[in-house]
Amino acid sequence: MDSSDAFGFSRRGVLIGGSAASAVLVHVGPAQAAPARGDVPVTMPVSLEVNGTRHDLQLDTRTTLLDALREHLRLTGTKKGCDHGQCGACTVIVNGERINSCLSLALQHQGDKVTTIEGLGTPEKLHPMQAAFIEHDGFQCGYCTPGQICSAVAVLGEIKRGVPSHVQEDIVAAPALSNHELRERMSGNICRCGAYSNIMEAMLQVGGTSA
Ligand code: FES
Ligand code: FES
Repeated sequence: MDSSDAFGFSRRGVLIGGSAASAVLVHVGPAQAAPARGDVPVTMPVSLEVNGTRHDLQLDTRTTLLDALREHLRLTGTKKGCDHGQCGACTVIVNGERINSCLSLALQHQGDKVTTIEGLGTPEKLHPMQAAFIEHDGFQCGYCTPGQICSAVAVLGEIKRGVPSHVQEDIVAAPALSNHELRERMSGNICRCGAYSNIMEAMLQVGGTSA
């Protein structure tokens, strides 16, 4: 039976014509569409001194410091865990203070000195905290470890400078290098493997106290 209808189209002809038309639409559509304003990234220049080397970058203004380090400078030692300030995996040291690099924009750090795990030590010459983590088994999978080590180094600096914590009974007294004090100060660095007690031992050793 002839499948042509009263308008003179066959079903087969309609199907072929339809797919050809949609192919044309798919091809032509994007070229004709004007780019939405929000699709065009706004970029700005920023200079960062990372591990002693200056880097001049042109970044999307929404780029976090964490993504600038990992995606633009290929310093993947700093880890992305939650990307929301909850886990501490992204901890780096900026001008001597530890921060969650996922929580600040790279542009906020114009001219800042950033130290990542790659800048603390090398495989040939480990930072004392890196060596102590190895000695005390301060990690298992190691994902949280760069953040833990950066945080641990900065914590010892905070205690040395007399920066008080929430568990300090006398906030005008010099903070003690105790297990209790260290656990409070390291509470923003989560370890899913539960290496906490070994991390404490490593920190106490580097700080000059035994567990
Ligand atoms: S990745 Fe930054 S705190 Fe979790
Ligand atoms: S060593 Fe695995 S999450 Fe800390």
